[in-house]
Amino acid sequence: MSAGGAGAAVDPPEEVRVVAGTLASGQAAHLDGGPHGVCLVRIGDEYHALADRCSHANVALSEGEVDEDDVAIECWKHGSTFSLADGRPQCLPATRPVPVYPVRVEGDEIVVTVK
Ligand code: FES
Repeated sequence: MSAGGAGAAVDPPEEVRVVAGTLASGQAAHLDGGPHGVCLVRIGDEYHALADRCSHANVALSEGEVDEDDVAIECWKHGSTFSLADGRPQCLPATRPVPVYPVRVEGDEIVVTVK
């Protein structure tokens, strides 16, 4: 069915939910959802979410190390760090940002909207 003309259909946003408190501060976890999964990071009481694939190669960022002071995550493969605020790489070899997803708390759940 056509959605009103030419062009590709746009997928609606997907919500990915996880129970709050399953992550300790400074930890990252992979969640299923979106084209590459979601890397959910907790720093203190703040949660951050980004696509779980490094922009340099097909590597899961959720397996990297969280830098709580710089609010960033380091790719384990070649060491690029990515800002959890905007997904931009802060050092080489990665040069392209990774998508960042909005996160909200609903009751005892963390909800990530994957667009
Ligand atoms: S795969 Fe992440 S920096 Fe190379």
